[in-house]
Amino acid sequence: GIDPNFDTNQPKATADDFAAMEDAGVEFDDEIDVWGLIDPPEKLGIHGTHVAVDYDICIADGACLENCPVDVFTWVDTPDHPESDTKVEPTREDQCIDCMLCVDICPVDAIDVDAS
Ligand code: SF4
Ligand code: F3S
Repeated sequence: GIDPNFDTNQPKATADDFAAMEDAGVEFDDEIDVWGLIDPPEKLGIHGTHVAVDYDICIADGACLENCPVDVFTWVDTPDHPESDTKVEPTREDQCIDCMLCVDICPVDAIDVDAS
């Protein structure tokens, strides 16, 4: 599953990383921080900080997006990623109410919510 200490264990993505993801057809919101070693299309890192989704684990199950009570998530395209060609972005992570539903429901443990 996702490393809950990603924001200390992993580097923050750079402008070059964002450009490389864009070149690979990965849509993203510039407001959302990305963490980890980025090497598109296979390695896309962890997207978000308060609500964080590990794109290299997510299989696009969709239960998080369908069940979040405050609609934090939106779909983004991730062409040629080995696990799935769409992922959820925590676009409105600032709206999160820390209910932990998404953390509990994700079948592959791809989401971390920092409720502390
Ligand atoms: Fe939505 Fe709850 Fe997950 Fe926050 S913890 S993103 S409110 S499902
Ligand atoms: Fe992905 Fe898990 Fe949501 S697989 S789409 S983060 S339920």
